[in-house]
Amino acid sequence: MNNAEALPANKQTGRAAAPRGPKGSLIMGVMREFNRDMLEFVTRCRDYGDVVHTRFLWIHAFFLYHPNDIESMLVTNAKSYHKPRSFRSPFFYRLAGNGLVTSDGEFWRRQRRLAQPAFHRQRINAYGDVMVQYTQRAMAAWKHGEHRDVARDMARLALEIVVKTLFNSDVSQDADHVGATLSELVKPFASQATLKWILDNRLPTPGHRKYFNEVAEIDRIIFRIIAERRASGYDQGDLLSMLLEAQDEDGTQMNDKQLRDEVITLFVAGHETTALSLAWSWYLLATHPQAEQKFHRELDEVLAGRTPNVSDLPKLKYTEMVAKEAMRLYPPAYAVGREAIEETEIGGFRVPKGTQLFAFQWVTHRDPRYFDEPEAFKPQRWENAEQIPKFAYFPFGAGPRQCIGNYFAMMEIILLLATIGQRFRFSLDPSHKVEVLPALSLRPKNGIKVIVESHKAQS
Ligand code: HEM
Repeated sequence: MNNAEALPANKQTGRAAAPRGPKGSLIMGVMREFNRDMLEFVTRCRDYGDVVHTRFLWIHAFFLYHPNDIESMLVTNAKSYHKPRSFRSPFFYRLAGNGLVTSDGEFWRRQRRLAQPAFHRQRINAYGDVMVQYTQRAMAAWKHGEHRDVARDMARLALEIVVKTLFNSDVSQDADHVGATLSELVKPFASQATLKWILDNRLPTPGHRKYFNEVAEIDRIIFRIIAERRASGYDQGDLLSMLLEAQDEDGTQMNDKQLRDEVITLFVAGHETTALSLAWSWYLLATHPQAEQKFHRELDEVLAGRTPNVSDLPKLKYTEMVAKEAMRLYPPAYAVGREAIEETEIGGFRVPKGTQLFAFQWVTHRDPRYFDEPEAFKPQRWENAEQIPKFAYFPFGAGPRQCIGNYFAMMEIILLLATIGQRFRFSLDPSHKVEVLPALSLRPKNGIKVIVESHKAQS
């Protein structure tokens, strides 16, 4: 990269006023390079330094690669930032509204306070049996020797689990409908830095109209579910009941619009990411026989043929390391963004107000400075987790905006890996090439096609 952009030095301090980085074209900035191959582009940008300055159209962006700077943005100096500009686009806002992922400031703080009890470990543990039962139900149809797309299976299963834990519903057509429509709806978010995205966002194109009609349909269903639940006044043990009952110190509760925003947020944030962690874990196990053997051995030893439950979690250490290592190599949330709400400083550089900052799990999780043999799948590296710099690994983010569903997700991933791994193993379909697609989360482009094999316990 020789087309570097370096802004003039600050006269008072003598240091660079902005970090170096790729300039791109006069009008578009780096939009084209970014869209051509996003993961490759943001990886290549690290060659400019740990803090990189670049531009999309008129929007200035910093890319952060060093754990200290990631910590600064997400934790120690979190007050200088809020969520990035793309979250405030009319398109995104119409879907996610002022939910936990997208809101900021005092409003977010109150919502987080209200939602937190619903994610208390004890409450979440109660969902463990649902997770295992639903998995057993799904597996009942799998046969030795059959070809399946394990990414699709995991997506379906995680969807059923989130619908059950959010709405306590599994037969309701409404919940299925909301699930299917929402999954369709998030597709346009696959690439936000394109002209099509910008146009759809601002003009009444056919894509724009279709999208808004679908969101309106989802709203009608969710508002009806909320009204029915309010009328019944009955705690069904699901997340919706918890959110309905949540009260602030002054006794105020969420109104229907707020509940709707949170339900949609949990739905979107809570199922694709988890399904993808599982899908990538199966892919890595299928392609690493030694790790796979260790995984099965642990399941045979710990469970001895018994159905897993939450009390097994602390004993399923290798399974947990498989999940962590899969999220290192294939982090479902592969980037995290912020916008500077005031002038501030990062890595010794001035950050002008309005700058968009991004850290990429995809890049930092594979940085050879922090991970020995960074491209290798080595679950055992997590036995010495203390040797890994804290902010070199951040699949769930960090600081005040860290994933509220972190424990829920880890529990679901480990329990599903154990429940399935106890009965089956997968080998990769040799005719199928697995490719990475950085959509809203990090997807396998054409799924993960496998051949199912029954697993017999090794005694
Ligand atoms: C493997 C699965 C998951 C991954 C990798 C993941 C990743 C993340 C990340 C990186 C963030 C922080 C974003 C930022 O700082 O801008 C986040 C926030 C969030 N996640 Fe997750 N997540 C997962 C599962 C879940 C689940 C299961 C739920 C809910 C049931 C959930 C709900 C949320 C919510 C509500 C937030 C916003 C929290 C706030 O800002 O207060 N996530 N997630």
